[in-house]
Amino acid sequence: MLRSHTCGELNMTHIETKTTLSGWVQKSRDLGGMTFIDLRDRYGITQLVFNLETNKALCMQARKLGREFVIQAKGVVKERSNKNLKMLTGEVEIFVDELTILNKSKVPPFTIENETDGGDELRMKYRYLDLRRNPLRENMELRHRMSIETRKYMDSQNFFEIETPYLIKSTPEGARDFVVPSRMNQNQFYALPQSPQTFKQLLMVSGFDRYYQIVRCFRDEDLRADRQPEFTQIDCEMTFVEQDDILDTFEGLARHLFKTIKDVEITDFPRIEYANAMKYYGSDKPDIRFEMKFVELNDVAKGKGFKVFDDAELVVGICAERCGEYSRKQLDQLTDFVRKPQIGAKGLIYVKCNADGTFKSSVDKFFDQEALKIWAAKFDARPGDLLLVISGDTEKAQKQLGELRLEMGNRLELKDQKSFKPLWVVDFPLLEWNEDAKRFHAMHHPFTSPKTEDVEMLETTPGKVRANAYDLVINGVEIGGGSIRIFDKGVQQKMFKVLGFTDEEAQTQFGFLMNAFEFGAPPHGGIAFGFDRWVALFGGSDSIRDFIAFPKNNSGRDVMIDSPSKIAEEQLDELKLKVVKS
Ligand code: AMO
Repeated sequence: MLRSHTCGELNMTHIETKTTLSGWVQKSRDLGGMTFIDLRDRYGITQLVFNLETNKALCMQARKLGREFVIQAKGVVKERSNKNLKMLTGEVEIFVDELTILNKSKVPPFTIENETDGGDELRMKYRYLDLRRNPLRENMELRHRMSIETRKYMDSQNFFEIETPYLIKSTPEGARDFVVPSRMNQNQFYALPQSPQTFKQLLMVSGFDRYYQIVRCFRDEDLRADRQPEFTQIDCEMTFVEQDDILDTFEGLARHLFKTIKDVEITDFPRIEYANAMKYYGSDKPDIRFEMKFVELNDVAKGKGFKVFDDAELVVGICAERCGEYSRKQLDQLTDFVRKPQIGAKGLIYVKCNADGTFKSSVDKFFDQEALKIWAAKFDARPGDLLLVISGDTEKAQKQLGELRLEMGNRLELKDQKSFKPLWVVDFPLLEWNEDAKRFHAMHHPFTSPKTEDVEMLETTPGKVRANAYDLVINGVEIGGGSIRIFDKGVQQKMFKVLGFTDEEAQTQFGFLMNAFEFGAPPHGGIAFGFDRWVALFGGSDSIRDFIAFPKNNSGRDVMIDSPSKIAEEQLDELKLKVVKS
């Protein structure tokens, strides 16, 4: 070994011990006759001391070391006169008597400190240097610990970890596939899995009963802070279970991770139906760290001569407590917020509940004090509160107000960063109408079973059919989703028909699964969690990028290895691919 100890372990119990440390030069300081070097490795930082008087040559050698040089230092552990109790090793230092340069380093393009001066692109280009920084190293450690604890829990519950293939078949549902040309089967392509969905179902047909995998998934979709083109799922499937069994089992996983990683006991996993999540929060992933539930106003707002409300399907609002004093400018900001193209509301109505019990609103012309008092009562509003109201098509108005609710949550600092509020959203619709394609899409995926009591509506009003599907939401982040599956060939065929597949298309795409259903497929269901999202949530960040060692940037590029990139003519020829000039 090139070291006897790490840079994070020496303390007062090691005084006078001879030690050999190896690591990177974090920084050095020359103070008169002494040179101090902070030596860093994964475990911490230890202070090295060189004395000009007692060993001039060695001290001069130390003074020439640059930042990020890799060195080995041998010496004796001594008590520091000037202790730094914030550091694990802050009570001791090493009086060095032998120094070896293991490798030199160019001056790094940014400082390798907790707070760095490097911009995003630069740090992505030199990701291996960025990963030397404490915050990123801690993120990787958190990720590692969460995967270990996940495996421990899943093993304790009798789940087998089984790998499924990465080179699979392209299917039209969901996001776009990443495809891989096959050299041996010309003009044919594999696809990288968007998830191991069909394989885990086949494993249930095989009788494995309980499967899980911490697995990479690939989706060619628009990127956001919580989305990467390749990301990791904790993917799970169980046999002979109903929805409650799955929710119970994975509440167990969530509890285990909260306890072992965050030392938090979560007692409550409330459930809300999708329809109510939309009705009260305007979102299928409500952040329930704060209330601010929607109040519908159709009965008191319509029919009073205000055309905007009269023409609307839904008039709905929230009550922002203690915001009744908002200035014109603040109200304009909120109106601008809901009018942003991403949100798309036409406008925002406000009612100020004045301290003296009167009201001031932007619709005073149509609603007198008596009418506004009735509104305020519906919200349980108190003097000093502010009502914010949106109207329009139901779904749109709900989503727009949902965004405003979150914005108000931010402005009023209602999202307690230290608290974790999980929520199961259940009873999702089975299908969602796609206006562009003029057909239904599966809201979750085509293997999700409809609720038995709703099956009849599949032929008449498919849009109303609810699914045995559920999402786990924590603090407004969709951490996972799953469903009880169809396991009957006839029902699966019917589902493909509703989704607009001909029998032939369904057979070509998914024949392997439907055939398997003819050989004693058991009832089964499962769930998959976004592992990167869960780690980021525990790490206190909205962005998953810094919890992945080598992520892609917002254009889906790896700027460090410069990928995607062109390939050689010979490779193209071999694959019988032509590059089309754009
Ligand atoms: P779903 O598509 O809902 O379900 O994915 C499960 C979870 O994976 C995470 N996730 C992502 N994380 C990062 N980047 C992405 N691009 C990305 N896309 C999804 C989310 C999501 O909740 N096979 C089904 C699961 C099942 O039915 O068992 C599936 O993949 O946290």
